[in-house]
Amino acid sequence: MTAPAPTTPDRPVGGSYDPARTTGGGLAAELDRLEAQAALSFAEELHLLRELGIAVPGGTVLELGAGPGAVTRRLRAALPDDTALVAADIDAELLARAAGPGVTLLVADGADLPLEDGSVDFVLLRYVLQHVPDPAAVLAEVRRVLRPGGRVACTEVDSACWGAADPSYPELAGVHAKMAAAQRTAGGDRAIGRRLPRLLRAAGFDDVVLRPFATTNDDHPTDAFAPQLGPQRLEPLVARGVLSLAELALAADRWNRFRSDPDAWVMLLGLTAAATAPAGRGPRAAR
Ligand SMILES: C[S@@+](CC[C@H](N)C(=O)[O-])C[C@H]1O[C@@H](n2cnc3c(N)ncnc32)[C@H](O)[C@@H]1O
Repeated sequence: MTAPAPTTPDRPVGGSYDPARTTGGGLAAELDRLEAQAALSFAEELHLLRELGIAVPGGTVLELGAGPGAVTRRLRAALPDDTALVAADIDAELLARAAGPGVTLLVADGADLPLEDGSVDFVLLRYVLQHVPDPAAVLAEVRRVLRPGGRVACTEVDSACWGAADPSYPELAGVHAKMAAAQRTAGGDRAIGRRLPRLLRAAGFDDVVLRPFATTNDDHPTDAFAPQLGPQRLEPLVARGVLSLAELALAADRWNRFRSDPDAWVMLLGLTAAATAPAGRGPRAAR
């Protein structure tokens, strides 16, 4: 399994995810944002993933939708040396950045994986299903490649319970609603967190559990949250006509107030749903 030579797509290949237009500053800023996001919460996520069975000595872990590898690098360091790690993504250019010792790259659509039935022990999808127009097709394929008893973990957001902030700024609710609506229009779903257990059950998985995890500015400097919560994240939505310049200015003002308030508190919530592949394998998804 090797990655073809990187290509430069002129349009997004990862569903509603367009790495060049996810945050102001283009691809370079998005790479930084993903790295900052992993730095904020991976330690918490790893506790959960260990509890959910990711450490499989001698087994194979598939990180599906690995992107540029912010989590791949951390997983490689955390997993036993004899656990094979496969990083897969539909975007060859992004995935090429995940290359490193002990990581096998696989350019593929999660709904059509060039992997044998039952060949994987654990699959992680982190912030991927929210961008996929048909999450059920991806989960059916995940079930097919998992061995019976293998585990899947899906980490996501839910825009209705993204976290909490004090002070909070209710006047930004409309901005956040427009952000979620824009992702829906592009075929994604920022409220997918709540749907994960039902999606996993519908795909035929057993032992479905849902585990929240939290990241706060008691554990990280407030400025470490800037790539996720700051106004730069909204700039592409102005360019697309989804938000007005006045809305961007409002969000920038509230972020500046927040970051300069020594008593400000923020908590980001993530949701990880996990499940077990049953004994009977699912059929390969129709092509
Ligand atoms: C927000 S990024 C998350 C990257 C990485 N999981 C992380 O947490 O840093 C979403 C990733 O999902 C990938 N993706 C979207 N649709 C996909 C699909 N159908 N098959 C495989 N990867 C996909 C995108 O190319 C992108 O790399």
